[in-house]
Amino acid sequence: MMLKTAMSYLLVAASVLILGWGNVAFAGNTGGLDYERALWHPLHFKPAIDEATNEQCLSCHQEILDRKVREQSPAGVKAEEALAWYQTLHTYEGPQMTFHQRHLTGPLARQLMNMKCNTCHQGENPREEAPIPPDPTNTTFTLRKQVNPEICLMCHGAHPFKVMGLPGPWPESRDNFQNNCLLCHAGIRTNRHQVNFLKADAIEEAAKKEGDVCYGCHGGRQWYRIAYPYPRHAWEGMSDEVPEWAVGRPTESNPRFRIQQGEAGK
Ligand code: HEC
Ligand code: HEC
Ligand code: HEC
Ligand code: HEC
Ligand code: HEC
Repeated sequence: MMLKTAMSYLLVAASVLILGWGNVAFAGNTGGLDYERALWHPLHFKPAIDEATNEQCLSCHQEILDRKVREQSPAGVKAEEALAWYQTLHTYEGPQMTFHQRHLTGPLARQLMNMKCNTCHQGENPREEAPIPPDPTNTTFTLRKQVNPEICLMCHGAHPFKVMGLPGPWPESRDNFQNNCLLCHAGIRTNRHQVNFLKADAIEEAAKKEGDVCYGCHGGRQWYRIAYPYPRHAWEGMSDEVPEWAVGRPTESNPRFRIQQGEAGK
């Protein structure tokens, strides 16, 4: 056993020497190009990345969707028995999946969202990546694959209950409002979700049946202490007075995501 482990380390070390780190780590394909050309493929950079389709990215990175979670963690926790706090909303379905699957191919993702690789990925410049093996004395590398965490904040921020005039955080006040955001939002801030990565109509449909649908993206899976400062689109019946907290807010979505009204998710 010991010998076998030692042997496999040697094998890995040998292949690293022969192939270089990149080749060993890369589990996708290179689309018929040599590794370097694929790594520096123009699709990774502006401006081409803005027009890239999922199919183009997946032609080399299919592993992103095929890869499976471990059945058991190194510490022995079985995936099928593990449930995290953010997996207890009523909308959570199915066995454990990877991050990419949950956002692209999971049942809820397919129902409500229409994300693309470039919704999150805004470039992939190997010059900015930390070297392998790591060099702790050099801190100029971003360690991020050019995914801006503000994107995550849009759906993983805090529930801004104070601006809504709610008596307390949603878990404490939801019973007073029949666990239904639409009780107020059928008439308030109704011009929403007209962006190219959401299915606006499907969201409204689903929310009529299930109270956790809205909360899921507005506090129910909160990774950040702050809330996202959403654009404040004019809506029918809106008062002319801008509340203090909303002064200076944009009145339209980020141009990168904007679509014509009524075309969300098409
Ligand atoms: C021609 C094949 C090819 C295409 C097309 C391609 N990539 Fe890559 N990509 C690669 C290779 C090869 C690497 C280097 C991977 C490695 O060494 O682990 C890479 C690296 C990456 C990385 C960094 C991976 C890491 O572990 O550091 C990201 C993120 C990435 N690509 C995203 C994308 C996105 C998004 C698209 C579409 C806009 C795309 N790629 C299109 C081949 C491709
Ligand atoms: C919800 C946002 C999001 C979407 C959508 C998304 N990614 Fe990622 N991706 C990330 C984040 C975050 C990371 C980790 C970044 C880091 O380590 O700095 C990542 C990592 C990666 C990596 C390198 C790490 C790995 O797991 O191998 C590749 C390659 C990649 N993504 C490709 C893609 C492709 C191709 C698509 C479209 C099919 C896609 N991503 C869609 C957010 C996203
Ligand atoms: C457009 C909304 C949206 C954006 C943007 C978004 N997420 Fe999510 N995220 C979701 C939804 C919805 C789920 C729940 C999916 C489910 O229950 O199947 C989720 C689930 C997750 C999970 C839990 C996965 C699991 O196994 O249960 C993590 C972690 C996560 N997101 C991190 C991120 C990060 C990091 C980013 C930014 C790179 C990001 N999300 C961007 C909507 C979003
Ligand atoms: C008691 C009525 C009420 C309930 C219930 C309610 N909201 Fe609100 N919500 C408001 C009001 C009022 C505003 C602020 C309107 C404005 O822009 O002037 C608001 C604003 C928002 C905003 C935008 C915040 C910002 O910073 O721009 C989001 C997102 C939101 N609500 C989501 C929800 C979700 C999700 C639920 C259910 C979990 C919910 N609301 C329940 C009344 C309510
Ligand atoms: C899949 C994730 C997701 C779900 C589900 C979701 N939202 Fe949102 N919501 C977002 C994102 C992302 C934005 C910001 C979009 C943009 O930039 O225009 C947003 C924006 C808003 C805004 C700001 C509106 C404005 O003026 O632009 C309100 C209010 C809101 N959501 C309420 C709700 C309510 C009510 C529900 C349930 C009917 C709901 N959300 C369900 C992700 C979600």
